[in-house]
Amino acid sequence: MLNKKVEKALNKQINYEFYSAHLYLSMASYFKSNDLDGFGHWMQVQYEEEIFHAMKIIDFVHTRDGRVKLLAIEQPPHQWDSSLHVFKDTYDHEVVVTGLINDLVTLSIKENDHATQNFLQWYIAEQVEEEANVKSIKSKLKLAAESTVTLLMLDQEMAKRVFVPPQD
Ligand code: FEO
Repeated sequence: MLNKKVEKALNKQINYEFYSAHLYLSMASYFKSNDLDGFGHWMQVQYEEEIFHAMKIIDFVHTRDGRVKLLAIEQPPHQWDSSLHVFKDTYDHEVVVTGLINDLVTLSIKENDHATQNFLQWYIAEQVEEEANVKSIKSKLKLAAESTVTLLMLDQEMAKRVFVPPQD
């Protein structure tokens, strides 16, 4: 049986994962409207990952005999100044998500909920990867800021990303 405080916090996290998906789909649309289809594709894969993150928590709540209560998803931004601006926002967003996962772990420890604490370790590892991937792209975009050719080469690189459901 899922602890009620933990259940409420997991529901909030489900909402935030869906918000992340919305945000990245909005970014995908921004890129595609600027003819950077490779970046747009990368962001669409990121959207799929976020849906996966949300669904994984939903499955966990159900397995623990808890109740999923879906909340309204906040409207994401629609406009950015540049590709670098998008990836700066993406990096900042992932740092916030890492903080939320850390808070969830702290709560599950406080509530003596070892099953949730164990479940969340997957997200701890995933956030290390998410932050590192986005930071690397942000750094490359900084280098590409002065060169359209480099930006277009990066766009081709970004088009190669394939959605592979993260391993359990
Ligand atoms: Fe669900 Fe990008 O963290």
